Amino acid sequence: MTTPSRRFIDQRIPGRRLLHSPGPTPVPDEVLHALTMQPMDHGDPRLDEVIADCEAGLKRVLQTDRGEPFFFGCNGHGAWEAAIENLLAPNARVLVPGTGHFSEGWAVQAEVLGRRVTRTPWVPGLPIDPAAVEQALREDKAHEIAAVFVVHTDTSSGITSDLAALRAAVEAAKHPALFVVDVVASLGAERFAMDAAGADAVVGASQKGLMCPPGIGFLAVNERAWKVAEANPAPRAYWDIVQRRSPLSYRKFYGTPPQNLCFALRAALGLLEQEGLQQVWARHRQLADLVHAAVEGWKAGGALDFFCTVPAARSNAVTTISVPEGTDVDALRAIAREQFQSAFAGALGPLQGKGFRIGHLGDQNVSTVLGVLGAAEAALRALGIPVGDGVGRAVRLVGER
Ligand SMILES: Cc1ncc(COP(=O)(O)O)c(C=O)c1O
Repeated sequence: MTTPSRRFIDQRIPGRRLLHSPGPTPVPDEVLHALTMQPMDHGDPRLDEVIADCEAGLKRVLQTDRGEPFFFGCNGHGAWEAAIENLLAPNARVLVPGTGHFSEGWAVQAEVLGRRVTRTPWVPGLPIDPAAVEQALREDKAHEIAAVFVVHTDTSSGITSDLAALRAAVEAAKHPALFVVDVVASLGAERFAMDAAGADAVVGASQKGLMCPPGIGFLAVNERAWKVAEANPAPRAYWDIVQRRSPLSYRKFYGTPPQNLCFALRAALGLLEQEGLQQVWARHRQLADLVHAAVEGWKAGGALDFFCTVPAARSNAVTTISVPEGTDVDALRAIAREQFQSAFAGALGPLQGKGFRIGHLGDQNVSTVLGVLGAAEAALRALGIPVGDGVGRAVRLVGER
């Protein structure tokens, strides 16, 4: 009997399939080729060189002189756990400002691991409110809050919060908490500089703006965060950055490094640098503008809208589009994926079933974005959802440039 998964594997579909989930994102050929290199023995200095290149390259992409990166064989949840276990003592308190599904996920993970969490409210459609952060910190007269965990871009809501305003809120409250930023979805898409943002620590993962397969997470810490980790009595092994600070690759990874992913990461970081970070950010801005133009066009049909109500907070990485109650979002995605070869995502958590998400981060260009917009518009029309001319609007925007 043919199982459904076998059926999909056997089916040859001509041409490229477009991947516009907000992670994983398409992997460039150069990165795929790097993945296929043979692994090396633990003592091979070439391997040390690859890892040193990943560390140096990531530091440049994070725009940091002061941050020290530690890599883990893990996804973004693993990187969250590395931040929790290293930067929060058992039973410590952390402030997690509400920005949607992902801030709540990080908060819950901290609670599961025995930390206490203070949340600021999540207001759907809006970025994090710096005033609420300042107030929460001012109310913490005993300075119990050890860290503020900020999700820069919430990939579910498609909202990017203003890190400068949030850092300023911490300063205004004169609070010593560490400022820890999740750049899982924003790195490579939004202008970001770890040192200039005043971030004491940053967490990220390989499968979004870094254009790699899933499987590498990282935590980068400055001297202040390092001292907290060093003094932290929380029992930990695999995630412990203190044990990982070593010249030996085997120690750096608490065991065998995920070598092929490191080869891939080195290649991907090289591609970002070759393009130039300024250009990478400008390209993401331009691609986001195209998607936003299309959504403006679709909106004219009266059914769809942006989930994010503040235009300046709409992310360069992903756009979340809300749909009328009762819309079959899974059917919409299935039509786009199976009939038109373009994959995009559904909304998550409290937004599940209420919208869909078009990722425009990573190895994308004008043609791939126009492609997914075309597929999405065709799928919307196939389901009878009234939409205005979104693709035409995006195409005209390309023409004006
Ligand atoms: C902002 C953000 N943080 C953390 C995560 C968790 O990452 P992962 O799914 O790799 O565990 C995601 C996943 O999409 C994310 O978008």
